[in-house]
Amino acid sequence: MKVLIIGGGGVIGQKLGQRLAARGTLRGQAIDRIVLADIVDPAPISGDVPVDTIQVDIADPQSVAKAVTADVDVIYLLAAIVSGQAESDMDLGYRINLQGTINVLEQARALGTCPVVVFSSSMAVYGGDVPDPIGDHTPLLPQTSYGAQKAMGELLVNDYTRKGFIDGRGFRLPTISVRPGKANLAASSFMSSILREPLNGQAAICPVEDDFPHYYLSPRMCVENLVRGAEIAAEDLGTNRCMQMPGRMWTIRQLIDAMTAVAGPEPAKLIRWEAQPEVQRIVMGWKYDLRADRALSLGLTADDSFEDNVRYYIEDDRPAAPA
Ligand SMILES: NC(=O)c1ccc[n+]([C@@H]2O[C@H](COP(=O)([O-])OP(=O)(O)OC[C@H]3O[C@@H](n4cnc5c(N)ncnc54)[C@H](O)[C@@H]3O)[C@@H](O)[C@H]2O)c1
Repeated sequence: MKVLIIGGGGVIGQKLGQRLAARGTLRGQAIDRIVLADIVDPAPISGDVPVDTIQVDIADPQSVAKAVTADVDVIYLLAAIVSGQAESDMDLGYRINLQGTINVLEQARALGTCPVVVFSSSMAVYGGDVPDPIGDHTPLLPQTSYGAQKAMGELLVNDYTRKGFIDGRGFRLPTISVRPGKANLAASSFMSSILREPLNGQAAICPVEDDFPHYYLSPRMCVENLVRGAEIAAEDLGTNRCMQMPGRMWTIRQLIDAMTAVAGPEPAKLIRWEAQPEVQRIVMGWKYDLRADRALSLGLTADDSFEDNVRYYIEDDRPAAPA
């Protein structure tokens, strides 16, 4: 089978590509080829399975047609611009996160092969007057353009599935932490940088109080859930193809304590506390707990403790210290 990862140059896309290349199977079949598609040239991946890379702009239907071809069995749609950028540039957010999603689904429809499509949504689809905790039947009322674009993507995944054009499934990713690489334009970026930078001996700014609660998942567990998400049988999913991916609720203080438990007291001393009203305005709408009962019952999982997240970062992603 052939697996296409759109957004394959991004943090999750790269890790998913590596995991699938090492695993060699998906949905009970051998993977013959993995294709990483992205607007930037994805970093190559080596493994037992051949991994190709291709440059694709999902906002351009002709470009999408080069990647979404009839021999593709499973499509991961991870390409997106992140929350802070979609909020500050509304046109760009709608062009990539909504029109780009439509372009990919339309091309999948045109194939006539009903490929599996795994869509990465976000818990930013929730907001406004919601119960706490949020459950599987809480209405979606996003309070950012990014969240609105993801919520519309979920409706499209359900509708294209209902029509028999795709076998879709969408998962609302928790905030992924500890995210490797550099800080990005996501409003949640600090939820990794306050750990990642200090673990690398660098200073970091925390823009919220230490009792700020939020819902997290490690990159490693996110990838396992995306693999599992593609494998769930269509009949087990029913008509509502979109759900919360499991995570766990921790406060900033618990994140820092977990870092200290794993890496000692020095990293925490590198955190500076500095209120940032624009970041606070967005993330204060994300303070509730979530229940992912449906995904848990379908075999997806969360990390056991935030200490695991810190350990996974050190094992999988922390750059080697200079000799
Ligand atoms: N990381 C998180 O905390 C988190 C939380 C919730 C949801 N998500 C969602 O999960 C997905 C993956 O997240 P990530 O952390 O790997 O993000 P990322 O920014 O690292 O990766 C996204 C990739 O999409 C690519 N891209 C952007 N515009 C494109 C276009 N027009 N055409 C093709 N590719 C384009 C980017 O170049 C990038 O490589 C995204 O859809 C994101 O919205 C992530």
